[in-house]
Amino acid sequence: MNSEFLNTPEVQTLLDRSAGIDKDGGDTRLKAITRDLLEALFATIVKHDITESEFWQAVTFFQQGVGEFGLIVPGTGIEHFMDLVMDERDREAGLSGGTPRTIEGPLYVAGAPLVENGANLTTDPDDTGNLSMSGQITGPDGEPVKDAILHVWHANSKGFYSHFDPTGEQTPFNNRRRIKLGDDGRYSFHSKMPNGYSVPPQGATDVLMQALGRHGNRPAHVHFFIEAPGYRTLTTQINFGDDPFARDDFAFGTRDGLLPVPERDGDDAVIEFDFSLQRAASHEDEVFSARARAEA
Ligand SMILES: [Fe+2]
Repeated sequence: MNSEFLNTPEVQTLLDRSAGIDKDGGDTRLKAITRDLLEALFATIVKHDITESEFWQAVTFFQQGVGEFGLIVPGTGIEHFMDLVMDERDREAGLSGGTPRTIEGPLYVAGAPLVENGANLTTDPDDTGNLSMSGQITGPDGEPVKDAILHVWHANSKGFYSHFDPTGEQTPFNNRRRIKLGDDGRYSFHSKMPNGYSVPPQGATDVLMQALGRHGNRPAHVHFFIEAPGYRTLTTQINFGDDPFARDDFAFGTRDGLLPVPERDGDDAVIEFDFSLQRAASHEDEVFSARARAEA
């Protein structure tokens, strides 16, 4: 089909009316974004000669996959693209340096116990080795970051996260803590070794990955938020540099600078990793994004 079809008055009027452009009420910014999104979708339908059956198959996929949007978004690279966009905005604003940000993923739970430095994160029994992680959080001039709170969360040895564990075996905050740090910015914690995981078998993300000839595996990793007065809140994670999926992460969470190779001793591992924060330019920099997060 000729793509000029998109520019016919009938289609353009449909786009205006669908996005409420021809109405006074509503949110102007949302109208403009909605119109562009719809136009991109219409253009894709035309470009690829999408049939009615294919179209409804796609609608069904999204209807059935709604519970896995938190995985589909990183799996399709959209969450990583947002990181790239924020990096580029930083670059344009002359902001650089610091530990790279990377995707939060859908498995953070707010309200984890606030504990002292050196804490054990693991509450539940887990027949695996021990992970010890430590390092220092500094600012742009190498100064220790004072009074930081390090939010840490990771999977258990089966690759399941507490609160989202389909086996129901974990207590609510297993492998989740907020660690209160002091004046020197030093942190340390220990826990039971996390494992990488794959998306739920036969779930929407798995179906999509297979249809794209991809897999749904992540390497073993540990997630962090770091918040501290005067500094920009950092969302990041370290991926185990010796994991087979370290550079083939379906969620695109792996980034250069976030791939420490653990020092292994049998089943146990030690990771030394320092974080560097940027200074906050505004209060908005010091708080979390408005994403909806689970609470327990
Ligand atoms: Fe994760």
